[in-house]
Amino acid sequence: MLKEVTATRYITPLREGGSLPGLVEADDFGIYVMKFTGAGQGRKTLVAEVVCGELARRLGFRVPGLVTVGLDPVLGLGEPEQQVQDLLRHSGGSNLGMDFLSGALGYDPLAFPVSAEEAGRIVWFDALVNNVDRSWRNPNLLVHRGELWLIDHGATMIWQHNWPAAEASAVRPYDASEHALARFAPDVAGAAAELAPRVTEDLLAEVTAEVPDAWLTDEPGFDTPDALRRAYARPLLARAAVIAGRVAGIDARTGAGREGEK
Ligand SMILES: Nc1ncnc2c1ncn2[C@@H]1O[C@H](COP(=O)(O)OP(=O)(O)OP(=O)(O)O)[C@@H](O)[C@H]1O
Ligand SMILES: [Mg+2]
Repeated sequence: MLKEVTATRYITPLREGGSLPGLVEADDFGIYVMKFTGAGQGRKTLVAEVVCGELARRLGFRVPGLVTVGLDPVLGLGEPEQQVQDLLRHSGGSNLGMDFLSGALGYDPLAFPVSAEEAGRIVWFDALVNNVDRSWRNPNLLVHRGELWLIDHGATMIWQHNWPAAEASAVRPYDASEHALARFAPDVAGAAAELAPRVTEDLLAEVTAEVPDAWLTDEPGFDTPDALRRAYARPLLARAAVIAGRVAGIDARTGAGREGEK
């Protein structure tokens, strides 16, 4: 399970995020980017953040540390903005917190070229979890102390929204043509050779065990949180073995994406 902290102060909303993430201070004196269970996207977004974030971390990617943040809705009572008040009021209990990378900048491919190897690793990982939210328009990559960090894994594993069809949808190809790193000739095959064998049943069990039980209850068709954890693991295990051959939109010869505009 993730470390648990309790929010002591709501600092400010982060304007860039569609889900209105906010900065909070917690009882361990840490500052966290908090994503709320009461946000429109719902708790499945938070499950995806944990499964993908913790998997990425174990595969060697830089990902901000994750915690669960207990929230007493009274913390929102003094908030001047109605939208923030409503969000806090509907998010009592466990929410997601991410270590705040102070001073991090949004990724700009023109200012920060990436090697074919690193691009390949990130594109392969995004293909694995079917991340549709790492495009050149909205890279969800941060540059912190000269290194690239992955954030925002909420829009992944689309199959979690339709479990009966999960196995069939999990083997679908991944279109990388708009990926933020498509222009760097990503060596997806090289990344797969290194990373795919590491995505084992044991690793996925470890990763899914980090998701709080409270976000895994009342899912139709699943009696226990552990049964749902196994459902999260299965498509990833199957996909790891095959996805490198199903990444579309990257020119096989140059590796260049088709974004063209920039
Ligand atoms: N750990 C972090 N450290 C520093 N800044 C962060 C961190 N996480 C997020 N941010 C900032 O907050 C913004 C919004 O975060 P994020 O993309 O995770 O939210 P979101 O609501 O899912 O966004 P969207 O769906 O609009 O992409 C990021 O673009 C980044 O500028
Ligand atoms: Mg984002």
